This record gives sequence, C-alpha cells and structure tokens, in this order.
Amino acid sequence: MRLLSLSFLLSTCLAVVAQNSSSNLNNSLSLTPAMGWSSWNQFGDSINEQLIMETIDSMDKSGLKEAGFIYINLDDGWQRYKGDRKDHPGPLEADPVKFPSGIKALADYAHSKGFKLGIYSGPGDLTCAGYTGSKDHESEDAVLWASWGIDHLKYDSCCSHADAPQAEVQAVVRTMSLALLSSSRPIVYHACHCGWVSVWEWAAADGANQWRIGQDISDDFNYPGNREKYYFDVLDMLDRGANLTQYSGPGHWNDYDMLIVGLEGKSGQLVGTGASDVEYRTHFSMWAMVASPLLIGADVRTLSNTSLTTLLNREIIELNQDPLGKPADVAWESADKTQQIYAKVMADDSYAVALLNRGGATADMNLNLRRDLTIPWDKYRVRDLWKHEDKGPYDMPYSVEVMAHEAKILRIWPVEKTRN
Ligand SMILES: *[C@@H]1O[C@H](CO)[C@@H](O)[C@H](O)[C@H]1NC(C)=O
Ligand SMILES: *[C@@H]1O[C@H](CO)[C@@H](O)[C@H](O)[C@H]1NC(C)=O
Ligand SMILES: *[C@@H]1O[C@H](CO)[C@@H](O)[C@H](O)[C@H]1NC(C)=O
Ligand SMILES: *[C@@H]1O[C@H](CO)[C@@H](O)[C@H](O)[C@H]1NC(C)=O
Repeated sequence: MRLLSLSFLLSTCLAVVAQNSSSNLNNSLSLTPAMGWSSWNQFGDSINEQLIMETIDSMDKSGLKEAGFIYINLDDGWQRYKGDRKDHPGPLEADPVKFPSGIKALADYAHSKGFKLGIYSGPGDLTCAGYTGSKDHESEDAVLWASWGIDHLKYDSCCSHADAPQAEVQAVVRTMSLALLSSSRPIVYHACHCGWVSVWEWAAADGANQWRIGQDISDDFNYPGNREKYYFDVLDMLDRGANLTQYSGPGHWNDYDMLIVGLEGKSGQLVGTGASDVEYRTHFSMWAMVASPLLIGADVRTLSNTSLTTLLNREIIELNQDPLGKPADVAWESADKTQQIYAKVMADDSYAVALLNRGGATADMNLNLRRDLTIPWDKYRVRDLWKHEDKGPYDMPYSVEVMAHEAKILRIWPVEKTRN
C-alpha cells in the first residue's frame, strides 16, 4: 500500500525527483546484508534452469537455506539476445534454450521452496557479457521483473564508469531505483559500480541497498600485486573497506563481492589459484564481521564437507545478520600491519572481535579490552566461534596463538563492568 502510493507520486513527478539526490528513494529493504548464492563466480553465463533448480534443491537439503542463504541470484547470461538493446527493442526475454519454462516459473519454484530469486542487468545498451542491457528501458524492465516475481537486482556497470562524472553515475543509479520503486514489488537493489566515484558516499540516498566497494574479487587470499592488475584478493578487499565502514548499515551495505569459499581455483571466471581451507574460513569470517552481503559463488552441489561446514557456522552468520548492522572497524594493528584486530559492537552490547594474522607465520596475539575496544570491563568471558567453546572469565588481556592467515573470531561479554 505504501509502495503503491509512493509509485503514484513518483510517476507524477519523476522528472523533477530524478534530478535530486533524495532519501525518499529508501525502499526499506535489506535491513541485514543479503545472503544467498550467485551464479557468476563458478558458472559465468553458462547457466540454465536445471542448474538453478538443482542449486535450490541442494541448498534446501544441505542446511544452507536454514542458515539464511535464501537469495538465488542469476547473474549475466539469462537473456535471450546478445548485442545492442537497440536491435532488440522489445521486452527482455529469457533464453528459451537455457530457461525453457521462463523466469516466472523459476521464481515460483524458488518461492515454493522458501527462497527468493534475483536477476541481473546493466545500465548500458549491452551487459558485461554482451547481452542486451536496460538502457532507456528501465521502467519497462523493472515492471517485467516484478511481474515475474523477482526479489533482487544486480545492476552492473561492468567497471566501465571509472572516468565518468559522478552526476552521470548517480543518475544511472537513481533511474533504476525509481523504476524499481514504481514497479510496486519489493526488489533489493545492488548498484554494481566497482567502487568508482565514491559510490558509498551517495548510493544509499539514491536508493541502492548494496554497492561494490572495489573491482572483482579473485580466488586468492593474498596474491602480491593483484590489486594493481585489476583484481582484488581477500586482503585487498578488506583494506579497501577499512575506511568506508561509516557508510554501511541497515538497508545500505558496502559489498565486498561474492564469496570465493569452495571455488578451490576451479572457477572458470575468476583469476586466482584458490585458497586453503583456513584462508577461506578467514575470508568468510571477515565478510561476516564487516557486514558484507554473503553470496556464495561456488557450485553448492559439490561443496566439500569443509567448505560446507565453514558456510554453515551460525555463530559467524549471526555477526553478519546482527540487527544493529555495525560493520567491524580495525581497532588495533601491529606496526608492520601483519596483525590486526577488528571489532564491532552487537545489538546485545557484546562485542565481536577478529584477531587476524595476515603474516606468513604463527603469531601470539593479545586482545586488550581497554586498548582495543575502549571498554572498561574488568572481567569478561570469551567465546571462540570456530571452536564453539566458552572461555574465561578473564581479568587481563586475552592471549592466543593464531596461525598464518587465520582469524580467531571471538564474542566477548562483560562479567563485571568498571570497578569503582
Ligand atoms: C531538486 O533540486 C533543485 C536544485 O537543487 C531544487 O530547486 C528542487 O526544488 C529540487 N526538487 C525536489 C523535488 O527536491
Ligand atoms: C532506510 O530505512 C530504514 C528503515 O526502514 C533505515 O533503517 C535505513 O537507515 C534507511 N536508509 C537510509 C539510507 O536512510
Ligand atoms: C585509512 O585511513 C587511515 C587514516 O586516515 C590511513 O592512514 C590509511 O592509509 C587509510 N587506508 C586506506 C586503505 O585507504
Ligand atoms: C562433515 O563430515 C563429518 C564426518 O563425516 C560429519 O559429522 C559432518 O556432519 C559433516 N558436515 C557437513 C556440514 O556435512
């Protein structure tokens, strides 16, 4: 009802509003980061309805749905036509060979199993993989997706706006935002602009629920020079996000890109040679700590037991889905930056803490509450969220051995607050 009256309002003064950055574009969706699966990292544009249905069935059976991974997002390649939209000006169509039953039937299937379905397009004449884009058809496309039952849109500029003026990119984001709002279906909006033109500063006001903070992730924990060659590894992405946490919160999230857990160097799309189980676990933990959307990128039908165990850690997921929606900040780092402590406060006033060892050797790390969290608790208890063990109470700094590229993820509660 609220959305309907808003859409009426927008359609009558769209031209005026579209020139302004305006907080009435808030769709009130994604109050916690989106969790689910996306087709790109493993499959590129080689997707079809059987694969998507098998993915849904697998995530249902394996417990991933129960754990909160409910968005099933089609990335590029679902469309019928490659080439310029100008040559195919009619309504967007699904590829009839890949999706013979159509996208609406697939959305119905996803919904019947308790999932949501996401779709993909871009603001150009062409999408990143060369399919017809949404340029000059934004409203029509949004209405069509809504009629299919779509719940999430990734709207991808293919990292092509590096030198575009901010106002131009903002207009692109806002135009689709208005189109989605006037479609009268709640559709989570991912504005994918590779972190250009300080997107984090304005995209929330222009109606985006999430935006990428950097270029594409690679299937690497720390590959020297990756960032200079376009791709961001796990540590590059964390460093890019470290100063941007003030822009992220309920309904508007910094997106650190899709998860690489379980890709094991086998992605046909991403560069990188894979990471170890410990590194994938650290990556997943840190994405949870910084409140990034959590979209699995691997083939869930063939995940190893270890990768599945990583993704199913409810205590880690709870940090990501906390209603307070605080992304963790770097609370302390060693002079050589090989050791870092990330921390964030949770809705129940406990703290989530990551002791991250970026270095190549095992290290003894210390958490000092007054130094690192600036909280005056004299006695506190600790839960190790990977060992699932309670420890303490402690009344002095907590010390622990952290393996190379490991992160100890802790949750800390006070036992006694300041002694008078
Ligand atoms: C849009 O911005 C212009 C110039 O800043 C202003 O004059 C106008 O009133 C604004 N319109 C709306 C609907 O906020
Ligand atoms: C949008 O609205 C939600 C509540 O409905 C609020 O939590 C969020 O902060 C708002 N976002 C912005 C950018 O104002
Ligand atoms: C983050 O900000 C700090 C202090 O302002 C600065 O020293 C650091 O280089 C910045 N980090 C990144 C990755 O931009
Ligand atoms: C992994 O394997 C162990 C031992 O076979 C089993 O107990 C556990 O349930 C498996 N975990 C998952 C997530 O499948």
